[in-house]
Amino acid sequence: MNQAIQLQNPPEYSLLQDKVTLLKKIDNCQTMNDFQKLFREHCINTSNPYFLNQLYGNVDQTALQVEHLISNYNTNVYTYEVAPVFTLIEKETVKYLLKKIGFDVEKSDGIFTQGGSISNLYGMLLARHQHNRKIKQDGISQKLYCLISEASHYSIKKNANILGIGEDNVIEFKAHQNNYDLERLLKEFKPFVVCLVAGSTVLGDFDNLDTIITLCHQYHTWVHVDASFGGCALFSSEHKNLLGGIEMADSVSWNFHKVLSLPIPCSVFLTRHKDVLRSTTYKEARYLFRETDEIEPLDLDIGQKTLFCGRKADATKLYVLLKVHGESYLENKIDSLFKLRDRLVREIEIRKRFYLICQPTYLNVCFVYTDDISDIEKTSQTVLSIRQRLLEENIMIGVHQIGAGPHFFRVPVINQFDVDFLLDAIDRFGFNISNNVSAHTFS
Ligand SMILES: Cc1ncc(COP(=O)(O)O)c(C=O)c1O
Repeated sequence: MNQAIQLQNPPEYSLLQDKVTLLKKIDNCQTMNDFQKLFREHCINTSNPYFLNQLYGNVDQTALQVEHLISNYNTNVYTYEVAPVFTLIEKETVKYLLKKIGFDVEKSDGIFTQGGSISNLYGMLLARHQHNRKIKQDGISQKLYCLISEASHYSIKKNANILGIGEDNVIEFKAHQNNYDLERLLKEFKPFVVCLVAGSTVLGDFDNLDTIITLCHQYHTWVHVDASFGGCALFSSEHKNLLGGIEMADSVSWNFHKVLSLPIPCSVFLTRHKDVLRSTTYKEARYLFRETDEIEPLDLDIGQKTLFCGRKADATKLYVLLKVHGESYLENKIDSLFKLRDRLVREIEIRKRFYLICQPTYLNVCFVYTDDISDIEKTSQTVLSIRQRLLEENIMIGVHQIGAGPHFFRVPVINQFDVDFLLDAIDRFGFNISNNVSAHTFS
């Protein structure tokens, strides 16, 4: 392992707090070099190949250069006037992505957002507007319901709070089971939106978009697909079928800062209904937007269809990557991640004391290390202790639990790491730990 790249354990809170206190003059923290040192010593380096903790990691070097470039201009992509080239770049990139989804480019639209959670907010807001356009002026006066796949990201419930729907009116359904349950819920609750997930946060599952969207549309219900994590499978001819049916969705969230390692944020919201995006978000601001005949038909002031005023030129990062390396670069990247995933899965399957939690559909590999898979508590203790021990060796893996099951490792295959090195380390620590856990448990 490359020891030059250190993962730092979270340092003692009080020591670090002391170092960052704003009004106290810190002798050794005045130059940029000092700050570089402070950050290096007290921030996790996600480019470490063994940063396997969340659904992102590493930073694409081309896109990092673009990030610096656009920050140099420090402008806002709300009007063409102040960001002409970035405006056209965003429009080009959105057009390309709409085609990738399979939407009719003339009738659909999209904007870059500050992340997947915000893209989900756009999806739910557009759905609410389509359901009842009077709410924009009058506010909510009736109870509204939202159906969500039980594997949905927590941002959906937060968004229900933001939109005045209320978290309790978000109803989860099991998108993997037959559609009987969903149809019953559609009839009973008449939801304004159904939120599905393509690439769930923990298991990396994909809801069956094709059949569920078809059913929801029979009930005239807006379907939002959260493809924040899974969307990038669309770049691969071999794996894009995971998202079969996405072209029927009413709206989609898609992140490029996860699997593609672009600097955070790089996320898009896309909708099949161009008119709904504009009418939902439009607010007159004469001091800012020029509604002249030349600008309006060309839709050049993108800020007229965003929820927030100022926005960075984040689309430029994906745009330059496509221009410089071409689509095949993205396809190869996704395919090589799937190959690494397969290699990890094969090794887990043949090694003793390693057990997969489920066969992965996407890039998340979920597994446990235990010498007694039937003992949930012992398995959990072993996994949690191994995680702690791994941290001391600069290996950071997320641990999760579903329901009353055991805690398990979730390795998102985004960084390029050495499979044998990782599993050998788990085996080495796990073997000692599980013996200790046994001694402790049975003494
Ligand atoms: C499925 C899914 N949707 C949305 C998000 C949120 O994305 P962001 O962190 O860009 O807001 C995540 C984050 O991991 C996610 O896994």
